Amino acid sequence: MSALFQTFTLKSVTLRNRIVVTPMCQYSSIDGVANEWHYSHYASLARGGAGLVVVEATAVSPEGRITPGCAGLWNDEQAQALLPIVQSIKSAGAIAGIQLGHAGRKASANRPWEGDDHIAVDDAAGWETLSASAIALGGGLPKVPKAISTSEIERVKADFVAAAIRARDAGFEWLELHFAHGYLAMGFLSAHSNQRTDQYGGSFENRSRFIIETLGAIREVWPDNLPLVVRLGVIEYDGRDEETLLESIELAKTLKTMGVDLLDVSMGFSTPTPDVPWATPAFLAPVAQRFRDETGLPVTASWGIDTPELAEQAIEQGQLDLVSLGRAMLSNPHWPYHAARKLGVDKASWTLPAQYAHWLERYAVGA
Ligand code: NDP
Ligand code: FNR
Repeated sequence: MSALFQTFTLKSVTLRNRIVVTPMCQYSSIDGVANEWHYSHYASLARGGAGLVVVEATAVSPEGRITPGCAGLWNDEQAQALLPIVQSIKSAGAIAGIQLGHAGRKASANRPWEGDDHIAVDDAAGWETLSASAIALGGGLPKVPKAISTSEIERVKADFVAAAIRARDAGFEWLELHFAHGYLAMGFLSAHSNQRTDQYGGSFENRSRFIIETLGAIREVWPDNLPLVVRLGVIEYDGRDEETLLESIELAKTLKTMGVDLLDVSMGFSTPTPDVPWATPAFLAPVAQRFRDETGLPVTASWGIDTPELAEQAIEQGQLDLVSLGRAMLSNPHWPYHAARKLGVDKASWTLPAQYAHWLERYAVGA
């Protein structure tokens, strides 16, 4: 029996297999409101057979969007637009998740296919960005953010809580907090971007404070029976990785005691040119396994896991509990079906709805 196609239960939620569609920004919302593009995109991903589909990084406030096209959840119109998307994911047999975040100093950018750089300061389409300290990322993102004040920190935490309530009420059953990739929370955690001298900067304990407080506030409103997940940037590939990893393991242990149910192990992206081992397949899987072993938390990771064999191996060898896939699922939303075939799963029909399975099973299309 394939390890990848075993069910996975966390709290009251059971995934039909270990395949997760990782959050992927679509940059296609208008004023943060989802539309037909999102509906067809998420419906097709869920229909393809993944166990869990996590809706893209969704901003908790307007200035927390990466680009003007990013999804938002700071008002009821945005929540309303997500309802049919949640239903489409569920009706295809997948669990519906959502990732909430705030882009920090990486906000106010052009869409990737329109430059992927900061919107020019004299362009009215842009906005003031917030980060732990007034330090720009650099590279294509040169804009200097405003150092967030303590009252603004309180406001952003309240925005996270309000968005989590809206996500809960919209029917999402899996909440992931985006504490990675150089966005606001990561901007607090990383000494590259945090040079504050108050209780939110300096020591590791202080740099972790924003994450811990935000998580604590969300824990109060997110139902106990539903999974609460953190995507954490645990490594920067900046030459001081062991130190960062040890700090991240400590933080992950604390997050576990606070009620985090699973860790999505990822990178910090706090520098513009990290020395990431891009050419190594599944390079984060062993890193994630270390977190699994040292914290006892179940883990997932993505990055370069794109074949059924790599995915199967990561689960089978105990590196990951769930495999998160991004570009492979964009390339082929029916990746799970083909993986089942490739791995010799006896009866893969449950990975596809009968409307498709009847024909594909009968003629073994794409086997
Ligand atoms: P960039 O996309 O600017 O990438 C930072 C550096 O990493 C660049 O040198 C880039 O090379 C390189 N790089 C990034 N991805 C890959 C890859 N898959 N293979 C080889 N080299 C790569 O950084 P961002 O901070 O904008 O994004 C970080 C990562 O997160 C990216 O992989 C991006 O695809 C992904 N992402 C995350 C989002 C989120 O968390 N909301 C949103 C969109 C994307 P080069 O300049 O040659 O591209
Ligand atoms: C991403 N990624 C990403 N990550 C995240 O935490 N929130 C997000 O909204 C996005 N958005 C996003 C959009 C697009 C188009 C891509 C390709 C990527 C990163 C993503 O979740 C994943 O970690 C990487 O794509 C690596 O996985 P793959 O593609 O190698 O399977």
